[in-house]
Amino acid sequence: MDASGFLTLHEVVKKARQKLDQNSWDYIVGAAETETTARRNRLAIEQLAFRPRVLRDVGRVDAGVEFLGRRLRLPLLLAPVGSLELFVPEGAAAAARAAGRFGVAHMLSSVCMPGIEEVAAAAPEAMRLFQLYVHGDADWVDAVVARAEAAGNAVFCLTVDSAVYSRRERDIAKRNLRRTNVPGREHQARLSWADVARLRTKTHLPLALKGIATAEDARLAVEHGVEIVYVSNHGGRQLDHGLGTLEILPEIVEAVAGRAKIVVDGGICRGTDIVKAIALGADLVGIGRMQCFGLAAAGEAGLVRVLELLEQEVLTALALLGVTRWAELDRSYLRPAAPLEPPRVLGAFPLLDLSERSLY
Ligand code: FNR
Repeated sequence: MDASGFLTLHEVVKKARQKLDQNSWDYIVGAAETETTARRNRLAIEQLAFRPRVLRDVGRVDAGVEFLGRRLRLPLLLAPVGSLELFVPEGAAAAARAAGRFGVAHMLSSVCMPGIEEVAAAAPEAMRLFQLYVHGDADWVDAVVARAEAAGNAVFCLTVDSAVYSRRERDIAKRNLRRTNVPGREHQARLSWADVARLRTKTHLPLALKGIATAEDARLAVEHGVEIVYVSNHGGRQLDHGLGTLEILPEIVEAVAGRAKIVVDGGICRGTDIVKAIALGADLVGIGRMQCFGLAAAGEAGLVRVLELLEQEVLTALALLGVTRWAELDRSYLRPAAPLEPPRVLGAFPLLDLSERSLY
């Protein structure tokens, strides 16, 4: 499919909305209970303004990075998303292929189809990372680790913000209770730091913990030999009334003090959002919902188009900030500012008009 006709990101979101049924739309945009955490992700981004520098020769700007020995075209990760197959037939294979084609990293969710081996076969050249929800005992985990290693994944990640399922009222109110019947889910509730210590001895892959939201846990992660601290509140889909991740990021950067890589996600919709996260000290930025919108709008090509548009926005922002590469960027380019609007999950797109279908 040709997705070059999308000239702005909000056109992609609009097409996704037109193609998705109400259940899939609610699954993607929805969050826990009052959806306050999800909106705070946007608030944390919107309450930062830039301090641009000028007259710096930005004739050539490089938005690429090195991450764990791989060159990426943007400091971007396709965050793990479960059940993509509900709205794009190729499921995670389409996302991984888009990542490989464009040149960003892809993290496969253990609750997405197709599985580890099929995604590796579909996108052998992509930088592939694997994320696990623990739905079995230690032997079960070890078997998954072995498969992830054999399939050439670059990182093994445990999601740790999902001890229990949250209450997503968009689904519950419709009696759509698909998520609540997963066998073995009690193992996820019993996870502890002892499991992280055990896992550390079981794989040579860099280990990531996704869902770190405090400096205390970031420090513990580093002490347990974790190489990647993934700052996330699950896009506001787990604990309600949390802080926005860009508000949490500075304390975690300080606590980690260079001893691990830092990935952050939550509310990232635009190139300037990526620039802000990197300026605050993240190494890589994850996108969840924006990935879903690209896939829903036009499959793999739609997601590649999202990445191209994000790249255009990033390059524009860096040039206008007087920055030619990420290493030049730091917190001095940001300062707090009052947000202009009450935050909304899709508030990054003022021209997005969903009036022919209600958003809520
Ligand atoms: C997710 N997320 C997620 N996280 C995870 O560790 N495993 C998973 O299977 C899923 N599944 C999932 C499904 C859908 C539809 C969404 C939107 C999100 C969370 C995801 O990895 C990421 O943390 C958030 O999506 C980031 O926030 P934004 O970019 O969606 O605002």
